[in-house]
Amino acid sequence: MLLKNLREEIDATLARDPAARSRLEVVLCYPGFHALVWHRLAHWLWRRGWLLAGRFASHIGRVLTGIEIHPGARIGKRVFIDHGMGVVIGETAEVGDDCTLYQGVTLGGTSLRQEKRHPTLGNGVIVGSHAQILGPFRVGDGARIGAAAVVLTEVPDRSTMVGNPARQVARRGPPSETAPVFQPYAVCGDIPDPIARALNGLLDEVTSLRARVAQVEQENERHRPARDPAAGEQPSLRLVGASAGNGTDDD
Ligand SMILES: CC(C)(COP(=O)(O)OP(=O)(O)OC[C@H]1O[C@@H](n2cnc3c(N)ncnc32)[C@H](O)[C@@H]1OP(=O)(O)O)[C@@H](O)C(=O)NCCC(=O)NCCS
Repeated sequence: MLLKNLREEIDATLARDPAARSRLEVVLCYPGFHALVWHRLAHWLWRRGWLLAGRFASHIGRVLTGIEIHPGARIGKRVFIDHGMGVVIGETAEVGDDCTLYQGVTLGGTSLRQEKRHPTLGNGVIVGSHAQILGPFRVGDGARIGAAAVVLTEVPDRSTMVGNPARQVARRGPPSETAPVFQPYAVCGDIPDPIARALNGLLDEVTSLRARVAQVEQENERHRPARDPAAGEQPSLRLVGASAGNGTDDD
């Protein structure tokens, strides 16, 4: 049974990472796979009441992989944690079958009470790099969470959430006949978040105003009146509109 589960996890990695070439490579070089092996041991200890031993096994897994999975968390089958560094999965989190998590993902809590305080991911959920899912709500089956999204509320089945705070978006291309296919590196440079757009507009404005101020300063520099008293008149004053009233006694 254990070997069958491990073999399924290895095959899930091969299926979902185009960079993976062989089972041996997955076993030797995939921290996500190592972290799940350590978690199986830690969870086994935790469920038998050996809490400290469970925490310690989890800690060793964390030191070796950079992936922190609390021994109390429930992780389904064929879960794939790609790259993995910085992933944190809290004590009461649940991860369904066939989920994919990228580096920096947090399945975190927002309460200090001893109750369910971390999210539950349905089956086939994909969580983009550095996404934060915070709170004891459900993320529906087949949902996709965009890279760097901050999800604070329940997520419907098969929806796509992006932004901070995350909101649902529709796919740009035509809808697929089949279930949505994840394109792992489909991170888009365009940011549709209205606040981000407003900030981008302000930044553009500041940049063009800076350029204009620099230009005006240069013009003023060129027309600055000569300081040499021997020069007598100050012809350049006539060129500077605001100063035109001064120094005109030679007229
Ligand atoms: C969220 C995601 C799954 C959406 O993929 P998709 O269905 O192909 O969606 P599209 O590219 O058609 O984008 C749909 C909309 O969401 C926006 N969007 C997509 N990803 C986003 C993100 N991470 N943050 C903010 N907005 C995002 C797009 O700009 C587009 O907005 P618009 O309609 O206003 O133009 C994908 O963009 C993503 O973030 N994947 C994670 C990849 C990842 O973490 N890779 C790590 C590899 S190491």
